[in-house]
Amino acid sequence: MNLVLDAVCKRFGDGKQAQLVLDRISLAMHTGQFLALLGSSGSGKSTLMRLVAGLEQPSSGSISLDGQPIRGPGSDRGMVFQKYSLYPWLTAAQNVAFGMELQGLERAEIRERTGFYLEVVGLAESARRLPRELSGGMQQRVAIARALAADPRVLLLDEPFGALDLQIRESMQEFLFGLWRRTGLSVLLITHDIDEALLLAQQVHILAPRPGRIVESLTVELNKDNLQDLRLSPAFQSLRHRVADTLRQLDGELA
Ligand SMILES: Nc1ncnc2c1ncn2[C@@H]1O[C@H](COP(=O)(O)OP(=O)(O)OP(=O)(O)O)[C@@H](O)[C@H]1O
Ligand SMILES: [Mg+2]
Repeated sequence: MNLVLDAVCKRFGDGKQAQLVLDRISLAMHTGQFLALLGSSGSGKSTLMRLVAGLEQPSSGSISLDGQPIRGPGSDRGMVFQKYSLYPWLTAAQNVAFGMELQGLERAEIRERTGFYLEVVGLAESARRLPRELSGGMQQRVAIARALAADPRVLLLDEPFGALDLQIRESMQEFLFGLWRRTGLSVLLITHDIDEALLLAQQVHILAPRPGRIVESLTVELNKDNLQDLRLSPAFQSLRHRVADTLRQLDGELA
């Protein structure tokens, strides 16, 4: 087992102001698995991501990676956020190299790995460009290259394509899926996009809001050899309708 969350709760504030944001979240992810957490706004997705990243501590419960409890941030987890998080004054290559410099890798190795991962995300030609000279999709690919370059055990993605136009989002989804199939990475994708979760992940946990809790977990058994065809297939459409109904009901319960 790669990543394990056991009855993780997160509370913010004290006394009367206390708010339970995550309620007994348990999940287990195998090495090489692609897992998605699907939930509406405010269901605690980013909080969960910050806990796995080690930026926050659970109020109770535990999180471990390859059997080791998570105590703080570490390069064993590669993170990509919704907002473009590149350093604007560094080129694409320098952004990718940044984390490896912090890790203290040798220059020659940094150069080689930077070139390799820019190639992986299809941006070898853009190595010397600044973020403002790249499209949103290209910037997110640099962010993914930067996360991969640290050779993480798991890639954590918090709505990585949320800010992109529909068309670019779809091509980025295909890119991420292809990358996962090629590399056998472990991927935890956090999203509110039903299609994205069902198209890409092998297993989808549905998160209900206030407090954030897993209400349903489903294994997606669809042929994913061609995502474009899959989007249009009746099997996919009926699954997404069912999941959309579940999410609507959860919102209805709150209204
Ligand atoms: N540091 C904090 N202190 C207090 N409350 C917080 C803190 N971080 C998050 N929250 C609360 O936790 C709840 C969940 O927030 P979170 O950002 O995890 O949701 P989300 O599912 O990522 O939402 P979105 O889809 O809008 O990104 C919100 O009610 C938020 O106000
Ligand atoms: Mg969020």
